[in-house]
Amino acid sequence: MLISVTGVTHTYPGRPVPVLRDVDVVLDEQRIGVIGANGSGKSTFVRLLNGLVVPSSGSVTIDGLDTSRQGREIRRKVGFCFTDPDSQIVMPTVAEDVAFGLRRRGLTKDERASRVKGILSEYALDQHADHAAHLLSGGQKQLLALASILVTEPALLVMDEPTTLLDLRNTKMVAQLVADLPQQVVLVTHGLELLTDFDRVLVFDEAKLVHDGAPAESIKLYRDLMT
Ligand SMILES: Nc1ncnc2c1ncn2[C@@H]1O[C@H](COP(=O)(O)OP(=O)(O)O)[C@@H](O)[C@H]1O
Ligand SMILES: [Mg+2]
Repeated sequence: MLISVTGVTHTYPGRPVPVLRDVDVVLDEQRIGVIGANGSGKSTFVRLLNGLVVPSSGSVTIDGLDTSRQGREIRRKVGFCFTDPDSQIVMPTVAEDVAFGLRRRGLTKDERASRVKGILSEYALDQHADHAAHLLSGGQKQLLALASILVTEPALLVMDEPTTLLDLRNTKMVAQLVADLPQQVVLVTHGLELLTDFDRVLVFDEAKLVHDGAPAESIKLYRDLMT
């Protein structure tokens, strides 16, 4: 999808200072990384991409759809994965949670069931279909959160630090899963090694998009900024 961010400044209500200032960028690569210090505006930037945050000035369009007016349509195409899977798991059991995202999509009961079954086996959660979602391990919960998003077949997947709460094994598992996805991905991460094969990496610092380039170059600039 063509992501177009034009003249965006964002200020949260009740806060005097913008958390993003004059951001202009057009993105259409398959793998886009976002890095920067804590509080630099990364989460706000990626939340703009599916209309979770609407910019106080400027505009964000996804394939020509404007997030401030067509948020609902955009959220059907742009999946969003949070850091903490607990904030995303909404139903009691694993299978019910995955099925939840398929409501109101004009699918028959059988179609829904078969999609749920397919994705659960793809993500090795089929043994847990009827288990309580909140009893899964941290890594399995993040898998479930991803399965619940991917079952809806988004064209773009935005992930905000999806491995921050995971151990090394699960971080690698999620990294591999991301590498194998057919979808376009925008990934915010402090795991710089996850970005090696990415097409493009954006660096945020103090509310500004300060650099935009190939992974090695962006990571070096970020390291320099932090020392
Ligand atoms: N919903 C919100 N309301 C008010 N301030 C917020 C909100 N979300 C984030 N902020 C503030 O905006 C700034 C940038 O935050 P964020 O975009 O989360 O940065 P990052 O993801 O890079 O840590 C921070 O100072 C943060 O405290
Ligand atoms: Mg953040």
